[in-house]
Amino acid sequence: MSDADAALMEASLIAVADASIDIRHALFGRFFAAYPERRASFISVDAASRRMTDETLQMMLGLAAGEEWVWPLVAELVFTHRSYGALPIAEYDAFIDMTVAELGLAAGSAWSEDCALAWQRHADALKAMIRQARAEWASAMPAGAPQIA
Ligand code: HEM
Repeated sequence: MSDADAALMEASLIAVADASIDIRHALFGRFFAAYPERRASFISVDAASRRMTDETLQMMLGLAAGEEWVWPLVAELVFTHRSYGALPIAEYDAFIDMTVAELGLAAGSAWSEDCALAWQRHADALKAMIRQARAEWASAMPAGAPQIA
């Protein structure tokens, strides 16, 4: 948890909102360019891109703010994503990194090295939490748990 990180992160989110930039369009364009075979897993990119983008940002900000709801939300996310096929952990990592990268491109002068480092710290924490959730589901419920790798 870091109040300083949370403040920097929040300032960049406000800058992007003030600029009326909806980063989900560029983010999903970038994600599907990297993983074109994943496009067919989505029934509604419009619906999913709103929630996936918002919740990824919220989870990172929640981690910076020490929010206790992050862990149960991540555990649920990992479990419900079983419905969308075998999703490699590398794609979660890439989606999180691309979310931060697109936010940085949209944030203009609110983006700084400190701000990028703050997001990166909590991006890395979110990636670790997703790994932990996949490992715990696999151990608690081996039949039908999400894959680990
Ligand atoms: C931390 C990262 C992620 C978060 C917070 C997240 C969150 C969500 C949420 C909330 C939904 C439900 C959307 C809705 O029905 O309104 C969703 C759907 C989905 N997510 Fe994610 N997601 C994440 C990462 C990923 C990754 C990495 C992939 C693919 C490799 C993925 C694939 C999907 C698919 C295929 C759907 C279903 C969309 C559809 O039916 O149109 N998600 N995600």
